[in-house]
Amino acid sequence: MADPSKWDHAAAEYNDAVGRSSRLGAARLIAMAEELYSPLSAPNARAIDLGAGTGSVTHQLAAAYPELPILATDISPGMLKQLMANATMPTNITTQIVDMAAPIGGAATEGSFSHVFSTMALQILPEPAGEGTLDQWAKLLAPDGIVAIGLWDFDENCGPHVLWEEAAKAVDPSYVNPPLLPARHWTGRAQLEAGLKSVGFRDVRSEVLHMGFNVGKEGFLQFFWESGNPMPLDRQAGFKGDLGKVKVEMERLLDEVYCGGTKIPLSAALAVARRPKVD
Ligand SMILES: C[S@@+](CC[C@H](N)C(=O)[O-])C[C@H]1O[C@@H](n2cnc3c(N)ncnc32)[C@H](O)[C@@H]1O
Repeated sequence: MADPSKWDHAAAEYNDAVGRSSRLGAARLIAMAEELYSPLSAPNARAIDLGAGTGSVTHQLAAAYPELPILATDISPGMLKQLMANATMPTNITTQIVDMAAPIGGAATEGSFSHVFSTMALQILPEPAGEGTLDQWAKLLAPDGIVAIGLWDFDENCGPHVLWEEAAKAVDPSYVNPPLLPARHWTGRAQLEAGLKSVGFRDVRSEVLHMGFNVGKEGFLQFFWESGNPMPLDRQAGFKGDLGKVKVEMERLLDEVYCGGTKIPLSAALAVARRPKVD
């Protein structure tokens, strides 16, 4: 999942399906950051978006806060190219290739951001608290700066995962759908909140937001079979049966169970917090 070329291939199609859900999560995350204070409209505010992808957070920040300098970063050049292609107005967005596991360097200088944002990316890394990733993110922040993180909530109600599993098992009843993430990767709110607290972040607030993945039948089929997103590619690669039959079964489920793809459950875990106190 952390291989940049995998995400390069997903860039062009990302906004059509996955981006729709992540934008809803990003909108609520920005509101939560504002509730924590200080405001993104402050004269000294500066934001970095880690694992920015095609810009779910960045573009909403740019639209709401035209004066806010935003550094949009990602490990995938293809994603950042798409992010800039999606920009609809002259903005204060700059981009930089950054590995979010070790983000400090170039324009991402220590202590220089009032806000560190990241949506649907941190869970690509193992143990973000225990292996020092969140310590690095804290270092990017000015004193009292705010971190705002969104994750996919991969609970048992994760619609795309369940839909695939139901279709695959109808074709091969012995199929076991592997977890979406390996052990030691975060899958939801409890780990996010506990992880932030364990490395000393203060004023931690978290919630689960149900966004749905309601992209319609054609939208879902496009996402699953043609978008190049690493999630469906991984599922398909691990299935030994007839994928053509799985697709037919998926179409039936979308029609009969998921209301033509307009009721596919998907949630995000969202958290905001303030930088740990520096001695
Ligand atoms: C699911 S997408 C989320 C994109 C966007 N933030 C959103 O909410 O729609 C995950 C992103 O993380 C990026 N990514 C993967 N590994 C990374 C790493 N080590 N450092 C920075 N970005 C990474 C991918 O290229 C991809 O753009």
